[in-house]
Amino acid sequence: MATAGKVIKCKAAVAWAPGKPLSVEEVEVAPPKAGEVRIKIVATGICHSDDHVLKGSLPNVEFPVIPGHEGAGIVESTGEGVTSVKPGDKVIPLCLAQCGECSYCRNPESNFCQKSHISGPQNLLPDKTSRFTCKGKQIYHFLWVSTFSEYTVVPEYAVAKIDAAAPLDKVCLFGCGFSTGYGAAINTAKVKPGSTCAVFGLGGVGLSAVMGCKAAGAARIIAVDINKDKFAKAKELGATDCINPRDFKKPIQEVITEMTGQGVDYSFEAIGHRDTMIAALASCNMNTGLCVMIGELDSGSEISIDPTLLLTGRTWKGTMLGGWKSRECIPKLVASYLEKKFNSDLLITHTLPFAKVNEGFELLRAGKSIRSVLLF
Ligand code: APR
Ligand code: ZN
Ligand code: ZN
Repeated sequence: MATAGKVIKCKAAVAWAPGKPLSVEEVEVAPPKAGEVRIKIVATGICHSDDHVLKGSLPNVEFPVIPGHEGAGIVESTGEGVTSVKPGDKVIPLCLAQCGECSYCRNPESNFCQKSHISGPQNLLPDKTSRFTCKGKQIYHFLWVSTFSEYTVVPEYAVAKIDAAAPLDKVCLFGCGFSTGYGAAINTAKVKPGSTCAVFGLGGVGLSAVMGCKAAGAARIIAVDINKDKFAKAKELGATDCINPRDFKKPIQEVITEMTGQGVDYSFEAIGHRDTMIAALASCNMNTGLCVMIGELDSGSEISIDPTLLLTGRTWKGTMLGGWKSRECIPKLVASYLEKKFNSDLLITHTLPFAKVNEGFELLRAGKSIRSVLLF
């Protein structure tokens, strides 16, 4: 491409400081160095974790930063030594890499690559420099992917090549929300046919967990949210019962235990609140119940529980990107989407031009959107 090897000037949404709205700026994006890929982002979803970034409540993020981690695009150019993708390929940048070499990557049971933001902040590329500048200042990357930029640079092991037929304005959700929720049910919980499930939080992530429970053959899926406007979509995607904790005097875990006799087989928390994490754990049956934590608590928060909840036999697990080994599995998920094995398009309630990124966040905060997709 004509731009290869050159600095590209393009649009990006910069968070200059915590607690401020994003500002759409012209940024400079340097060419990829060895082992890196520069991607033209075509579409990006807005995930609740991006809002945590704006509030300054996600660990290890540095400002000014370009957030966004649910994108899809086309390779513009590659650095020296890159072999798995070439200019023109459709790709999804991966907020959880798969280096293929670390002990976690080599373990077939795990998807949590050691080249992750939690193991070592991904605010700069692996050579400890940034590819972004704006108004003469260095801008930090976010989880290496920074999909709120029209062009972004990521390490090769954080890029998944996908089918050329994939609609980028739809499969961008596979970069986080859909893969996370769906995989939490399929991979992390391994929901069994005929089982009972409860999903707390009916945003993009929780509704994807509902879809995963349904695909796995769950007989009953109890959807929990304080916003009843989310119930119609939850039912459309497979929920059998929808309940609002505010409609009951007793704690929601007691309501769910009564509804099911002894609690559900699998529960999922896709909100990121201490109270709902404990309620989700207490909602699964004390003998063999399994609770999967998906939502993120604010940085530095802790949680304390009555150990009896676990002593009696429950299992409490967490999941990142739904347990998928990212580079290998995201393309397969895209293939399943193209084969119409599920319809993740139903999660997209709004499609907006990129300039309306702050409006997208307002819709999320007001509970009016499931997923907003921004188009460059
Ligand atoms: N009880 C029940 N539901 C709640 C509660 C509560 N106390 N508080 C909020 N909710 C619901 C909201 O009404 C909303 O429908 O949780 C849902 C959260 O959805 P989104 O804000 O759309 O968030 P989403 O993008 O799905 O992410 C959920 O997963 O990846 C993490 O950081 C992310 O922690 C976040 C979580
Ligand atoms: Zn690895
Ligand atoms: Zn996310």
